[in-house]
Amino acid sequence: MNQFIDIHSHLIPQFDDGPKNFQESLDMLRQAVDQGITQVFATSHFNEWIPREVETEYFKKLNQLRKKAERANLPITIHSGSEIFYHQYVEKTVKKSKVTTLGNWGQYILLEFPMFQMPDGAEEVLFKLAADKYIPIVAHPERYVKIVERPRRILNFIRFGGLLQVNGGSILGHFGKDIQKVALQLLERELVHFIASDAHSPRVRQYVLKPVYEFLQNKISEDYLNKVLFVHQKMIIDQQILEPIQIPEEEKLSFFESIRKRFKTSF
Ligand SMILES: [Fe+2]
Repeated sequence: MNQFIDIHSHLIPQFDDGPKNFQESLDMLRQAVDQGITQVFATSHFNEWIPREVETEYFKKLNQLRKKAERANLPITIHSGSEIFYHQYVEKTVKKSKVTTLGNWGQYILLEFPMFQMPDGAEEVLFKLAADKYIPIVAHPERYVKIVERPRRILNFIRFGGLLQVNGGSILGHFGKDIQKVALQLLERELVHFIASDAHSPRVRQYVLKPVYEFLQNKISEDYLNKVLFVHQKMIIDQQILEPIQIPEEEKLSFFESIRKRFKTSF
């Protein structure tokens, strides 16, 4: 395997907490190419209400970056997208805005939740999006404090139609041992659809798909590794439909029992 696709990265300069200028964006793309990444989604942060001029600025900078990457002979395709922050009426924003679905194909939505407090309406939003034929992808569930404290909540994300995207940095331990353990447990039980870098800069929070691939090689099956690093991502690009994971009853119990013991949490 040597052609990765990264569905989560912050590549647009001076737009969010990603790169500070086009040079940094190009440095990031160069690192991606060096790792065998051939396609990336530029998923800048977006919040509740997306003004038209902000969306226009995003596409203007995206097109500038595409041209600069081409001039620099970087063999990488940059798709549009967003990491949209949870709000109660996210489905209304999704219908109005061109940036909210990956590739602007009206299908897959990368959705981020608050890091420290899980809102009561989280599952309802996933359900509403799925009912409208969108496919919500929950960005880095393993990093949310409320998930680490009470992993059972992940089941609700899946049950209400969410696919899970785990960060490569979480798998490699960049966010601490507790988050790494949750990430690995999710992967061992094959509850994850995607691994992505969530890259922000050429120096910290870089692209990590190659080191993640090497790290996981003897930990999960080659077939599943291929799915979470390439096959599922390709299905987004081909605009095919990925179904949420169906969790058998006994798996629900054994999975959360093992996490409870490991973290000594109650749920
Ligand atoms: Fe992100």
